[in-house]
Amino acid sequence: MRHPSVLVERNYPAMSRRAAVWIDAAIRAQPRLVLALPTGTTPIGVYARLVELHRQTGTDWSQATTFNLDEYAGAGPDHPASYAHYMQVHLFGPLTLAPQRRHLPNGLASDAAVEAARYEMEIDATGGIDLAVLGVGANGHLGFNEPGSELLAATHLAELSEETRRRNFPPASYPAMGAQPGIDDRRLRQQFHRAYTMGVGTIMQARRILVLASGEPKRAVLREALRGPVTPCNPASLLQLHRCVTLVVDRAAWGNDE
Ligand code: GLP
Repeated sequence: MRHPSVLVERNYPAMSRRAAVWIDAAIRAQPRLVLALPTGTTPIGVYARLVELHRQTGTDWSQATTFNLDEYAGAGPDHPASYAHYMQVHLFGPLTLAPQRRHLPNGLASDAAVEAARYEMEIDATGGIDLAVLGVGANGHLGFNEPGSELLAATHLAELSEETRRRNFPPASYPAMGAQPGIDDRRLRQQFHRAYTMGVGTIMQARRILVLASGEPKRAVLREALRGPVTPCNPASLLQLHRCVTLVVDRAAWGNDE
């Protein structure tokens, strides 16, 4: 097993810049790059810097292909809580990425098994993922592969843990996502209790993996993932089995001691 490269930056803006420069360089080196992309709060700064680099230096995204890691079941692209909406706002819109180059699971699909298989086939048709950019959930989840006794390899519909739903739909953050004030976060937690996610097999088949982590709440799970046993109780620990992982983290997520 090869150890991951770890790039520690002093704070969130520096971490975001470093990761964006890294991804931007990967696109320049390989314009037809196939990426897996995360959502959540962590990548927002990275996406903003990527857009800046695109505008300032002309990085050409027109031949890149993107696959998002996950999408809430029941969320259409117009729903402000959907990851399709998030990606449109933070990356796809500003980059003017052509619709045929970006992919997300269809949260409104009527048959989950068919939708999951379709997504896998689309990934396969591109020749597989070159670079998977990942966030890590505070419980170690990757995409929406939650800790548990079993992890599924391929894209599937996953039941979200109570903890993940509480984190993803906290009372205060929803208006900050641009939704109408007064929307009931409790209703969102009930409504979006399942999500399509790439499986851990799909993620682990990526040729390279870039992990983003920021903030003290990620520190323990990150340590355990990298130094503890490889276990489904911490899906991020599977990263120990991948040959080409780079982490870009800030000091709060990594600690000051190294
Ligand atoms: C969500 C996403 C994950 C993401 C995680 C971490 O649950 N499905 O792909 O990595 O959140 O989110 P944050 O960056 O907000 O901590």
